[in-house]
Amino acid sequence: MFVLEVRNLRYAYPDGTPALEGVNLALEPGEKTALVGANGSGKSTLLLHLTGCLGPDSGEILLDGRPLGDDVDRARRMVGMMFQEPDDQLFMPSVLEDVAFAPRASGTPPREAAEKAAEMLERLGISHLASRPPHRLSGGEKRMVALAGILVSDPEVLVLDEPSASLDPRSRRMIIATLQCMKLPMILATHDLDMAMDVCSTATILAHGKSVLRGALPELFHREETLERWGLELPLSIRPGESSEERREGEKTILSA
Ligand SMILES: Nc1ncnc2c1ncn2[C@@H]1O[C@H](COP(=O)(O)OP(=O)(O)O)[C@@H](O)[C@H]1O
Ligand SMILES: [Mg+2]
Repeated sequence: MFVLEVRNLRYAYPDGTPALEGVNLALEPGEKTALVGANGSGKSTLLLHLTGCLGPDSGEILLDGRPLGDDVDRARRMVGMMFQEPDDQLFMPSVLEDVAFAPRASGTPPREAAEKAAEMLERLGISHLASRPPHRLSGGEKRMVALAGILVSDPEVLVLDEPSASLDPRSRRMIIATLQCMKLPMILATHDLDMAMDVCSTATILAHGKSVLRGALPELFHREETLERWGLELPLSIRPGESSEERREGEKTILSA
């Protein structure tokens, strides 16, 4: 049985813009899958459906084999989403309070909620940020805190919208390493194909609101004509003449510049 399944999902925004025009996706227990596609292909719109923020015009979403229907609460409970802009989900005066917010909101007593939050910060290796104001953190730190705030509610599926967007190489590697260690099934929407290959075992290509191709990684991304056809760039790590070693050297140069 699939943890999450999307069947022929269609959605147009109220202004008439067609955003999803037939999306199919299935996630097995423990599977990490990448959702890749050019800008405007519908990645964010699809993720907003998975968390119940948007409802489809037609088609179906199933969680643990059961249709979601209008049960927005069930979607929120089961699916943890990291938004593209971490500032959209960080709003408490300190990191600890921010991570404790969800357990507090669901009725956990203050002290227990703070303990849970502190444990989660520890698990992600960011305890040192506990008393900092979230809006003063770096982009990478903000994303780690947002992740802590999601994981503390124990979601069954994690969905992430462009988690490496505008990160420096070091923060990007920290996010990648964290996601690699996690056992939770996840959908990683990104146009960073290198990150997709580092974290995920499968990928679905989205183009013009349709899921056009699904396959195993890294094999799927070795097909240059396929990627080009759907408006994607060949990942750096498999560009001819540039090994991943050379790329890492390149990153070091950037870091020490
Ligand atoms: N709030 C909105 N209102 C109208 N159209 C939108 C809105 N948000 C996104 N779109 C349109 O929906 C399509 C899919 O966008 P989006 O899901 O953001 O793609 P991606 O995340 O892959 O870049 C695009 O044509 C985009 O312009
Ligand atoms: Mg997007």
